[in-house]
Amino acid sequence: MTGFYRYMLLLLGFFSMTKKSDGVEVNAARSGTTSQSSTDFNWYSQYATDGVSTSCTHTLIQANPWWRVDLLKTLSVDRLVVTNRPDCCAERINGAEIRVGHIADIYSNPVCCVIPSIPAGASYTCSCNGREGRYVYVVLPSASGVLTVCEVEVYGVLPENLALGKNATQSSTWYTWYAGHAIDGNRGLSQPSTWCSSTHYQNNPWWRVDLHNVYKVSRVVVTNRADCCLDQVNGVKILIGNSLEDNGNNNSMCAVIPSIAAGGSATFVCNYMEGRYVNLISPRNSTALPLCEVEVYGIDQSHTASGI
Ligand SMILES: *[C@@H]1O[C@H](CO)[C@@H](O)[C@H](O)[C@H]1NC(C)=O
Ligand SMILES: *[C@@H]1O[C@H](CO)[C@@H](O)[C@H](O)[C@H]1NC(C)=O
Ligand SMILES: *[C@@H]1O[C@H](CO)[C@@H](O)[C@H](O)[C@H]1NC(C)=O
Repeated sequence: MTGFYRYMLLLLGFFSMTKKSDGVEVNAARSGTTSQSSTDFNWYSQYATDGVSTSCTHTLIQANPWWRVDLLKTLSVDRLVVTNRPDCCAERINGAEIRVGHIADIYSNPVCCVIPSIPAGASYTCSCNGREGRYVYVVLPSASGVLTVCEVEVYGVLPENLALGKNATQSSTWYTWYAGHAIDGNRGLSQPSTWCSSTHYQNNPWWRVDLHNVYKVSRVVVTNRADCCLDQVNGVKILIGNSLEDNGNNNSMCAVIPSIAAGGSATFVCNYMEGRYVNLISPRNSTALPLCEVEVYGIDQSHTASGI
């Protein structure tokens, strides 16, 4: 291979890396808060995130022992690295599940991988393919087991809002409250009247963003107006899919918005529903549909982590 081609390949590798991370990859577990189902003596849960692979955690003998880190922010997790204890009992980790998700409850979060086995003192890398989550659990399905981990590293990037820079449209437009104001990257709290979208008063007003590609949508974050008309988002359906039938309003439902506080942002988990279009439609007649921001997070089709 000539030097030129080698150089080009290096360059390509460099771009694919920087494109993926959009910044520097850090071990997000280091800045999270840890806990575990029980603690044996002084084998505290934070020893798995202290950067020292010889200080370890240890639960008591119990059913389904677990360890957890709350990253304190949502991360798109690329991979996790789990280090086993060096001194004994290496097989105790066999079969432990790594779960990543949005919810502070073990089994509500999908499994990213199952640890087959890890030699004493060695590390196992689990690929999580960009799955989003704030909570990372290591749980050992066992009637009576002990869970020890010496280090858990969590690598990923902050999720990108897929709606930014895409095209939005709505059933009608109230003065200058264009559909695009709901995807301008500004939640609009300081100037709600210029930075939010709104339809006219009509029956079943709707709003839609075209993501331009099919994504698996992890969650949608909706920001309500701060100044008035707060209940106009109540009952609004969030739909996701690939069809433009009935303006996209016949796609599958992710959630119904119960209500959102003034100027508040609410997250709706969509469990990786697939689609190019995200619609919001009101069930009511003679109403407007104002939206100060709609953020869409998810992963593209090329990611195929188990459970997604
Ligand atoms: C997005 O909207 C602009 C302006 O209306 C239009 O010219 C463009 O074709 C749209 N792009 C897509 C991919 O729909
Ligand atoms: C809407 O979707 C349903 C279920 O996917 C389908 O059976 C129906 O034909 C679609 N069209 C209309 C107009 O309801
Ligand atoms: C909205 O108006 C339509 C047509 O007038 C009517 O059939 C429907 O029941 C109304 N829906 C609500 C929620 O009031």
